[in-house]
Amino acid sequence: MRGELDVDFCVVNGENAADGIGITTKLAERLLAAGADVITLGNHTWRRSEIGPYLADSARVVRPANLAAAAPGRGVTVAEARGGARVAVINVLGSLYLEPARNMWELIDDLVDEARNETPLVIVDVHAEATSEKVALARWLDGRVTAVIGTHTHVQTSDARVQPGGTAAITDAGMTGPHDSVIGVQGDLAIRRMRTGMPVRFETATGGVRIEGALVECGLDGRATAIEPVRVAA
Ligand SMILES: [Fe+2]
Repeated sequence: MRGELDVDFCVVNGENAADGIGITTKLAERLLAAGADVITLGNHTWRRSEIGPYLADSARVVRPANLAAAAPGRGVTVAEARGGARVAVINVLGSLYLEPARNMWELIDDLVDEARNETPLVIVDVHAEATSEKVALARWLDGRVTAVIGTHTHVQTSDARVQPGGTAAITDAGMTGPHDSVIGVQGDLAIRRMRTGMPVRFETATGGVRIEGALVECGLDGRATAIEPVRVAA
């Protein structure tokens, strides 16, 4: 896909890579080897305990910056794109249902300043439940970052746009995984848990696999010129 779409830099949200919950070091390495430049995470960051030491040492896998400061890993990093441009990636967690250690609004301006000290090319992955939080953050950062890409809710939204200040945004990039499902889980199991309120062991579905995401075009000045949703049957 990198070749087909002529992609210079690729960010993957990998927090559900390990059977729907969390990521392992092996899977992170596989995603990086497959062409991801940076992997972001989310509310399931710590589901696989092995990931802590890995995040402490990794410059290419980031976790939300507003998780506990005492936890391993970083929430912002800079990596090199094809052609040599440096791209900063910031990962933050929204508040609704996710209860981060710190509110993203308390940190985001400092994170963006830190990133912009390195490069004008800045991508923010805002991992959040509420569309309002993601739309608000995109507006707040308009003109200061290249793109604000929402993740976590797994359903691609139809609001890809470049805002007046030159920041591209989409409220949710969607899900790479089985769409014949309830956001990745076998439908009958998810429905049984909802109908009965009883514990049900979730299994990952297998049908209707699609790659979803967003493709952003920008100049070396960091301003976005276009964004389009990506939706490809695997
Ligand atoms: Fe999530």
